[in-house]
Amino acid sequence: MIVVRTPHKLRGALARLRGAGRIALVPTMGCLHEGHTSLIRKARDLAGVVVVSIYVNPLQFGPDEDLNAYPRTFEADRTVCKALGVDVIFHPENLYASGLPNITLKTSELSNVLCGATRPGHFDGVVTVVNILFNIVQPDIALFGEKDWQQLAIIRRMVTDLHMSVEILGCKTVREPDGLATSSRNRYLSAEERKRAAALYVSIQEIAENTRKGKRDCKELLENARNSLKMKQIDPEYIEIRDASTLTETIRITDLPTRAFIAATIGRARLIDNVALEMT
Ligand code: PAF
Repeated sequence: MIVVRTPHKLRGALARLRGAGRIALVPTMGCLHEGHTSLIRKARDLAGVVVVSIYVNPLQFGPDEDLNAYPRTFEADRTVCKALGVDVIFHPENLYASGLPNITLKTSELSNVLCGATRPGHFDGVVTVVNILFNIVQPDIALFGEKDWQQLAIIRRMVTDLHMSVEILGCKTVREPDGLATSSRNRYLSAEERKRAAALYVSIQEIAENTRKGKRDCKELLENARNSLKMKQIDPEYIEIRDASTLTETIRITDLPTRAFIAATIGRARLIDNVALEMT
């Protein structure tokens, strides 16, 4: 495994490796957890060359967000990548030539809702850096976790709209035994907050369960879930039911792919989660 710090060196390394098969990219901000390791394992299964990028992208953090506090654990991340048979870690110091870029990508409807409603510019920062990573690595496949479903939907849309020739693979959310989705931000939780945090998954699971039992009215499904959250003293930033790809609001469950989404801040941690809603 090699670690490279500049786009120039990465291009050189990949030129030498390109004959070894398809290239899979797992873009991360480091602080690797079980969610990331499942992406890396999948990449290893599917491709001849696995590249993991580790870069805390300043462009996707708002002025009051946790850019400086975001955990940086490079040595531990390097050990994880080595154990999983990663070929290249791309760990640049800065991806923007002169401070911050003049040219960025911009998303529209898909980023006005859910997390985008309270994190203006966040998804523009994500697609800008993912586009830069795609340009440097030129992967055949790129893997992203379904926990960040809105990010995944936006990246899929970017690839379609900009005619990019990379295959995007979404991978199942990895959960703790009580259902909490693994996330780098879980480490901000105190023991008491960690216990309460499981309520996020429980509430959207309850929506999924009620959907399976035949409930179709989204207002009612959401009202029940809000009541369960209230009992755990959790006031969500949002809890919503939306179309899985367009992210438009769903009023009644039909056979279209639909998901329940939640975000809530517990202590210092802003947590998100989502599940598929299936009728049977
Ligand atoms: O999901 C993440 O960790 C980040 O948003 C990503 C895709 C690595 C872009 O910085």
